[in-house]
Amino acid sequence: MTSPILVALDLDSAEEAVRLAAALEPAVGGFKIGLELLMGPGPGTIGALVRLGKPVFVDAKLHDIPTTVHRAARQIGRAGARWVTVHASGGAAQLEAAAEGLAEGARAGRAGVLAVTVLTSLTDTDLSMTGVAGTPGKQSSRLARLAAAHGAEGVICSVKELGVIASVAPSLLRVTPGIRPQGIGADDQKRVATPQEAISRGADWLVIGRAITRAADPRRAAELINESLQTDAVVYARSDLDREE
Ligand code: C5P
Repeated sequence: MTSPILVALDLDSAEEAVRLAAALEPAVGGFKIGLELLMGPGPGTIGALVRLGKPVFVDAKLHDIPTTVHRAARQIGRAGARWVTVHASGGAAQLEAAAEGLAEGARAGRAGVLAVTVLTSLTDTDLSMTGVAGTPGKQSSRLARLAAAHGAEGVICSVKELGVIASVAPSLLRVTPGIRPQGIGADDQKRVATPQEAISRGADWLVIGRAITRAADPRRAAELINESLQTDAVVYARSDLDREE
């Protein structure tokens, strides 16, 4: 079984990130590098992770005019990224420019855009203050449809949104953060779900950071998550997540 874990390497040192990634490599499906590593040690870290032989997801959250996004995505593609995040609210032309730039940079390699819909940190009030009427859920669905129609391969979504995204944009890969195995604290995440719950609700990939990277034995923590996914899938028909809606 290929692990669905994309481990979030939220560290400020490239050496530490690559060392940890190498130790985790046999137990995870890929690596996620975010703004902290990109802005500190820099994009060279992408290549160092790519050399470990697993897909690298560059969480750059691009959002700019199409030409700039095209050029930035091309650089990320050249570095060997498998995926890059782009804010879907940047519009259709920007999404297409990102996908084209990425493919151009990746040349023969496979690479795709993952759309960010509504940041999970935003509430209804935050959205209305930016001029967006409606709930984050409604806006996410609208943006997921837009992303699917304009070249995105997938979308970043919370466990709660998995069902609705699958129905409005079934072609998109669903990549889900906010995952905590049973018994692990939520840290700053407001709404968490277990790996089994996320997979049984339709996630293709799980972004997991601290539950693995801060464990006493990170490799074992990742292996335990993989093992938990091999037991009979628990069906969550209506979970606490739905009841909160
Ligand atoms: O440590 P933890 O598992 O909470 O890390 C989750 C990762 O997913 C972090 O890198 C965080 O930036 C990212 N993420 C998130 N929620 C989103 C989008 C990305 O937690 N909505």
